Amino acid sequence: MKEQLRQIEEKAQSAIAAAADLRSLDDLRVRLLGKKGELTAILKQMKTLTADERAAMGQLANQVRSKMETLLNDKGAALREAAQNARLAAETVDITMPGTKPPTGRLHPLQIVENEVREIFLGMGFSVVDGPEVEYDYYNFEALNLPPDHPARDTQDTFYITDNILLRTQTSSVQVHVMENQKPPLRIISPGRVYRSDAVDATHSPLFHQIEGLVVDKGITMADLKGTLELLMQRLYGDDCKIRLRPHHFPFTEPSAEVDVMCFGCHGAGCRMCKGEGYIELLGAGMVHPKVLEGCGIDSSVYSGFAFGLGLERIVMRRYNISDMRLLFRNDMRFLEQFR
Ligand code: DAH
Repeated sequence: MKEQLRQIEEKAQSAIAAAADLRSLDDLRVRLLGKKGELTAILKQMKTLTADERAAMGQLANQVRSKMETLLNDKGAALREAAQNARLAAETVDITMPGTKPPTGRLHPLQIVENEVREIFLGMGFSVVDGPEVEYDYYNFEALNLPPDHPARDTQDTFYITDNILLRTQTSSVQVHVMENQKPPLRIISPGRVYRSDAVDATHSPLFHQIEGLVVDKGITMADLKGTLELLMQRLYGDDCKIRLRPHHFPFTEPSAEVDVMCFGCHGAGCRMCKGEGYIELLGAGMVHPKVLEGCGIDSSVYSGFAFGLGLERIVMRRYNISDMRLLFRNDMRFLEQFR
């Protein structure tokens, strides 16, 4: 029996030493010390011994048991520490490594330039107003001196909700809302989306953006219009930027003009970018037509005003040298990330 105990002890010693993880150590503990374990089996044979032998054997068995317990506990502690160290090593953070930057959003180039234009006009004492994109025919056309059969309507075909409700084709509709609701002096701009049923190509989109401007007061002249727009363009494109007014026709202004800016490529000399012109067309403007003023209840013998409407996409494309308008609407991060 003594010999058996010695063997058990020896086997236990090497088995414990060989245990690779806590789980197999637990299994081992059960096998060695449990009710069905080898040591218990031996103890059960003790009843065949004499009292003296039993005492000696009992003492020996207890020694073996406590030795195994100690070995198991020590090994457990060692395994736990090893597991802990392995985890610490695996989870180590190298604080000298460059961090991973969370992706941050950027303003869209259209928004960047719109914000700039807003700032410029706020600085000149304008306020910014909003208007509906779903509009009555009256505000989009009729009140702007475009009666139902006016030929200019053909160039602004749009999306109709009903016969007389449509998606606005121009922010000029906001002029009418403002003049109906406020008394002069008026000094507003109104940025927003406009719609036309145009096919998509490099310079057309059924949805685009305009910024409307309107000033109504006593004694407003074309000189005020020119000075205001020149300041805008100099702020946007640099102090040496010059503008040029060319006679044109819009139903809601009289006289009307198209406003060109000096070409950024050649500074007026003429180049490929401006097709030899030296200037590039950028927006429409004019003195508010007396009929439009009167229609909104403003006495045109007392008040005069100027208005202008600029296409935001066009300004953005010039600013950043973008040749295809579709890039502005495609939500391609590789494109959009370039703008600050
Ligand atoms: N609404 C015009 C367009 O979409 C642009 C325009 C021209 C606006 C002259 C104006 C203006 O306010 O006076 O083509």
